[in-house]
Amino acid sequence: MSTQNQPITLEEINQDFSLVHTASLSPDAEHAIGFFSGKKVPLEMHRVTTVKRLYLKDIDTRAASIESAGNNTFLLDNRDVFLDMLTDSGVNSMSIFQQAAMQTADDSYAGSATYFRLKNALNYVFGTEHFLPAHQGRACENIIARTFVTPNSYVITNYHFTTTKAHIMNNGGEVIEVVPQTSLDPTYITDFKGDMDLDLLASETARVGRENIAFVRIEAGTNLIGGQPVSLANMRAVSKFCREQGILLVFDASLLADNLYFIKTREETEKGKTVREIALEIAPLFDIIYFSARKLGCARGGGIVSNNVELIEKMKPLVPLFEGFLTYGGMSVREMEAIAIGLVETCDFHVISQTAQFVEAAVDLLEAKGVPCVRPAGGLGCHIDAMRFLDHVPQEEYRAGALAVAVYLASGIRGMERGTLSEERNPDGTDHLSAMELLRLAIPRRAFTLSQLEFMADRIGWVYENRDLIGGLRFVEEPAQLRFFFGRLAAVGDWPQKLIAKFKKDMPSQV
Ligand SMILES: Cc1ncc(COP(=O)(O)O)c(C=O)c1O
Repeated sequence: MSTQNQPITLEEINQDFSLVHTASLSPDAEHAIGFFSGKKVPLEMHRVTTVKRLYLKDIDTRAASIESAGNNTFLLDNRDVFLDMLTDSGVNSMSIFQQAAMQTADDSYAGSATYFRLKNALNYVFGTEHFLPAHQGRACENIIARTFVTPNSYVITNYHFTTTKAHIMNNGGEVIEVVPQTSLDPTYITDFKGDMDLDLLASETARVGRENIAFVRIEAGTNLIGGQPVSLANMRAVSKFCREQGILLVFDASLLADNLYFIKTREETEKGKTVREIALEIAPLFDIIYFSARKLGCARGGGIVSNNVELIEKMKPLVPLFEGFLTYGGMSVREMEAIAIGLVETCDFHVISQTAQFVEAAVDLLEAKGVPCVRPAGGLGCHIDAMRFLDHVPQEEYRAGALAVAVYLASGIRGMERGTLSEERNPDGTDHLSAMELLRLAIPRRAFTLSQLEFMADRIGWVYENRDLIGGLRFVEEPAQLRFFFGRLAAVGDWPQKLIAKFKKDMPSQV
């Protein structure tokens, strides 16, 4: 069995999972497969085994649905959705090996063999010894924030995620973001827009005092700024700084799969390494790693790993209190088996290359219609820049939220607002205007086809041509926290009706 310095081997992991097909994990398979013609097409390195029938309801039905959902795409009934691009969370396609492994789950409250298989799979990817299970990513954030965030402390991060920030604020902490300003410019092209600005990290540390910093947090594949990756070089530099300053360093690995792909394909010094070698180099840079297994591992769950037993002991009591016993942490053991296989499969270049290639293809299709998107294309999904798309709509009227409504009306496609609506209000009650106004169209892993993306670009291209018809939204019911999840809004004016009338005129034979 592994030791702290020697992660578990492929042979050992295979004893755990006789089902895992490991042939594709050999390093010589780690290159993109191209076309003789040179055409850039994302090639599916999987075949479909089980499918779900989709329905595209007519525009009048969609209009009624979005109205009764309070113009909030989170509140739509999925039966009224054609392509569900709300999120990549818990909706990725699973492999046949994941599904088969679910049948092998050991359903016991304490000491489940499933727990140890998942722990070994985490050791395979991260080389870590200790594992605290939790039911999803935000549950890990709850545990970490309750343990380390104290009133008036700070968390310095490359960029916040909604639930992360809410947990930090709930415990009296404040979030400081240190990506360079250029990372918030959707047109600025650089390989690693999720990198921390190291000078800003140092100056903010000096400003607030290192003793007041609960922890520094790096989020892989930075969600809210367009799925933008962090380079391994930046992680190394931040880790060195934190060790010198004696500051705890936490890694949010939820979007690690996409980030690993970008490190391997964009970072010159890492190109010759296998995906797993890169993952094993990342992990020791951090004191604590947590993840949403609704994303990483393509199932449903989460967890915290570390090689530091003292840190683990501090967090451990919160697992049975909020999640469940230490060997399942609120997860179904069937899902845990699927996560374990999904984690091993994350080390397969042809598994993790799919999302990034599809996102890039989607962005290319959208931009061919003139639709402004975040560049470079990142992971997770394509991000339409509502700041430019709807520059006539005041930011206080939630540009990206209004665009989500317009896109649903025109196409039955459900996206997610990632802008001002997703922010918490300022302490004085005013809206915190977001640095970016994005409509995120998630591309769940291995779920959609190229023709579905063509349809998406076609309909959104039509919305873009008719953007002048679109107006804003205002809250009619606004929850105090995480308002984007279940707040209800109304259109400012009758713009949805005008857009629907134009749709019927332009596409009389279409639904
Ligand atoms: C970067 C990041 N961290 C944390 C979370 C929270 O994870 P979960 O949805 O499993 O609670 C998410 C979910 O979208 C995420 O993208």
